[in-house]
Amino acid sequence: MDATLLFDGHEFTLPVHVGTEHEVGIDISALRRESGAITLDPGYGNTGSCTSSITFIDGEQGILRYRGYAIEDLAARSTFIEVMYLLVYGALPDPYQLSDFAERLRMHTLLHEDMKKLYEGFPPSAQPMAVLSAMVASLSTYYSDTEEDTELNIIRLLAKLKTIAAFAFKKSIGQPFVYPRNDLEFVADFLHMMFAVPSEPCEVSDVVHRALDMLLILHADHEQNCSTSTVRMVGSSGADLYSTISSGVSALSGPLHGGANMAVIEMLEAIRADGANYRKYVNRAKDRNDPFRLMGFGHRVYKNFDPRSILIKEACDRVLTQLNRQDPLLDIARNLERVALEDEYFIARGLYPNLDFYSGIVYRAIGLPTSMFTVLFALGRLPGWIAHWKEMRASGGRLHRPRQLYTGENLRSYPH
Ligand code: CMC
Repeated sequence: MDATLLFDGHEFTLPVHVGTEHEVGIDISALRRESGAITLDPGYGNTGSCTSSITFIDGEQGILRYRGYAIEDLAARSTFIEVMYLLVYGALPDPYQLSDFAERLRMHTLLHEDMKKLYEGFPPSAQPMAVLSAMVASLSTYYSDTEEDTELNIIRLLAKLKTIAAFAFKKSIGQPFVYPRNDLEFVADFLHMMFAVPSEPCEVSDVVHRALDMLLILHADHEQNCSTSTVRMVGSSGADLYSTISSGVSALSGPLHGGANMAVIEMLEAIRADGANYRKYVNRAKDRNDPFRLMGFGHRVYKNFDPRSILIKEACDRVLTQLNRQDPLLDIARNLERVALEDEYFIARGLYPNLDFYSGIVYRAIGLPTSMFTVLFALGRLPGWIAHWKEMRASGGRLHRPRQLYTGENLRSYPH
C-alpha cells in the first residue's frame, strides 16, 4: 500500500507501513530529499518516531498491552518483578528465569559507599526527583559503559534505583540511610529502606505490598510518552545508559507528565482549603483566560478512558476499605470527576481522569509522602525506559534529529 501526496504540482509516492494491530503509518522519511518540504507536527501528536514491539495502546478503545499482555491481566496476576523481566527481555519469565533474575537484582542493590557523600552535598530542601536524576547520572562515573557491560549495567540500574530513591527520601527528612536487605522481595525491600529506622524494622502489610506492586506495574511502560521519547532521543546520540535514563527522570518530573501525581494532590488540597468548592475549579479549568487545568485529567492518547485509571480507582477503594482509612480528598476527587464527566467542555475534548488522578490517594493511604509520588512513577517506568533504550540500539539507533520551520529574521547587516 502506498499514499500519494500532491504538492506544488508534483506527485510523491509515500510508502505505507502497517503495524501488527493494523495501525497505519505513512512513511515521510524521504519526503524532504524528494520534495524539499518537511512535515510540521508541533508536540509530535501525529508523528511516529519509531516502530516498536514493546507496548500497544489503542487510545479510542482504552487498550493497553505490554508485549501483547492486557494490562488488566498483568495487574491482577503478575508481580512487578515479572513485568520488569517481560518488558526488558520480551517474555514472561519461567520459574528458573524469575529466580535467577531476582537473585541478580539482589546482588546489586547497594550503592557505592562514596555515593553517600554526593547526597551530603544536596540541600535538605532538595526535590527527590532532582536528586534521583543527579544520582542516576552519577552512576556513569562509577561504572564503565562498554558493550560487554550493557547487561550488567541494566541489572545494576534496575536494582539500585529503589536504593537511590529511598536514600533521597531519607535525606529529605534528615534520617540516616537504611541499607537494602537482600532477604526481602523487591517492593518489600524498597518499603523497608523508606520506612525502617535503625531501632525499628518496617512491617509491611499484604495490602500495602500488593497495592504498591500493582501501581508499579501500571506505570511500567506507555510507549512513546515524553520521558520515553527523551530516553530514545538522548540514547540515540550514543550517550551511556545512566546519563540517558537520568534524562528520562528529568523529563518525567514535569507537572504535565509524571509530576502530575503530586500536582493532583496539591490541587485537591487547595480545593479543600478553599471550602471544597469543586465547581469553581471546574469552571476555572474551562476558562481560556485562566491557566489553571484540572490536573490528572486529559491524555494525549486516551480520548475515552485511561484503562490504568479504572484499575487505580478500584485499587483506591479497595485499599482505603482494607486499611480502614478515610481521605477527605477522595470525596473532592470523586465530585470533580463526576462534574467534569458531565460537562460539555470535558466531553467534547475527550478529557477523562488519567492514571495520576487517583494514584496519589492510594500512595497517601499506604503512607507514602507526596514528595515521593513522582519518584515512584520513575521507579515503575524504569523497565519501560530500558526496554525502549535496548530496542532503539538494536534497531541501529539512527540519531534522533527533528527539523524545524525557521520563522526568524532574514539575513540582516551587522550594525557598526
Ligand atoms: N484541564 C482543562 N482543560 C484541558 C485539560 C485539563 N487537564 N487538558 C486538556 N485540556 C484542554 C486544552 O486546553 C485544549 O482545549 P482547546 O482545544 O479549547 O484549546 C484541549 O483540552 C486539548 O488539550 P491539549 O493541551 O492539546 O492536549 P494534549 O494532548 O497536548 O495534552 C495533557 C495532554 C496530559 C498534557 C493535558 O491533558 C494536561 O495538561 N493534563 C493535565 C496534566 C496531567 O494530568 N498530566 C498527566 C498525563 S498522564 C500521565 C503521563 O503519561 O504522564
